Amino acid sequence: MLNSMSNIQDKVVIITGASSGIGEATAKKLVSQGAKLVLAARREDRLKKLQEEIQNDGGQAIYKVADVTSHEQLAELAAYALEQFGKIDVLVNNAGIMPQAFLFKKKIEEWDQMIDVNIKGVLYTIAAVLPSMRERKSGHVINLSSVAGHNIYPGGTVYCGTKHAVRAISEGLRQEEAMSGTNIRVTNISPGAISSELLDTTSEAEMRAGLDDFYQVAIEADNIAHTIAFAIEQPAEIGINEIIVRPTVQVG
Ligand SMILES: NC(=O)c1ccc[n+]([C@@H]2O[C@H](COP(=O)([O-])OP(=O)(O)OC[C@H]3O[C@@H](n4cnc5c(N)ncnc54)[C@H](OP(=O)(O)O)[C@@H]3O)[C@@H](O)[C@H]2O)c1
Repeated sequence: MLNSMSNIQDKVVIITGASSGIGEATAKKLVSQGAKLVLAARREDRLKKLQEEIQNDGGQAIYKVADVTSHEQLAELAAYALEQFGKIDVLVNNAGIMPQAFLFKKKIEEWDQMIDVNIKGVLYTIAAVLPSMRERKSGHVINLSSVAGHNIYPGGTVYCGTKHAVRAISEGLRQEEAMSGTNIRVTNISPGAISSELLDTTSEAEMRAGLDDFYQVAIEADNIAHTIAFAIEQPAEIGINEIIVRPTVQVG
């Protein structure tokens, strides 16, 4: 059922990492409020299935396979959104991975992947959407950081580093756009433990067992989708800049 009063109605929203977890839940939430979606991830079968589900429910969504480690693919994603819908109102910069391990394990490939996806991917996606948003003097960039962007814990050192970087990028972008008068809003969202496929990106058995234990209190991804919708639906002159959302009983 579409809510025609929503400030989300007819907004064109690009969602990276739309094939599962928070991205998928956000797609479902925003389309129920009348957004036009551009879904992106690497797994085409998942994107296609989600698009079909949305279309069967009367919503509008297109998708494009894009790996966020490729700035060329992200430029093509933004161009596709502009070609199909004529504008980009919101970017939900959500794709991310969390392979956890102690530094002494020297998981150098995983460090590189995390930096490439969680930091460079966030920057490349911003680079892809910013020119058209600045031209229109309107836009909203929503970055998914984490409680790990506020805290640091053993085994999560590199992941925490990437999520601290996301917060720094969010605040830097916010200041740069505010001083340029572009009306571009920036929201940094830091979830706590959320049920999704994220833990599957941790290969270390010992670390995974600890995460499974910690995630016993995890809440549904739909709660983060709700938070994202809240930030978008504010009047254009109001920027919700920083939100932490944890399960009530999560300690750290
Ligand atoms: N779950 C939590 O507890 C939690 C807490 C704090 C922050 N977060 C953050 O929330 C975001 C979403 O995570 P989630 O929990 O929803 O995990 P998820 O279910 O594993 O979803 C991650 C998404 O990122 C995509 N992705 C991964 N690598 C990619 C790449 N190279 N190019 C394009 N897309 C890529 C995946 O799609 P494909 O594999 O199809 O490409 C998937 O759709 C992440 O940034 C994560 O760090 C999650």
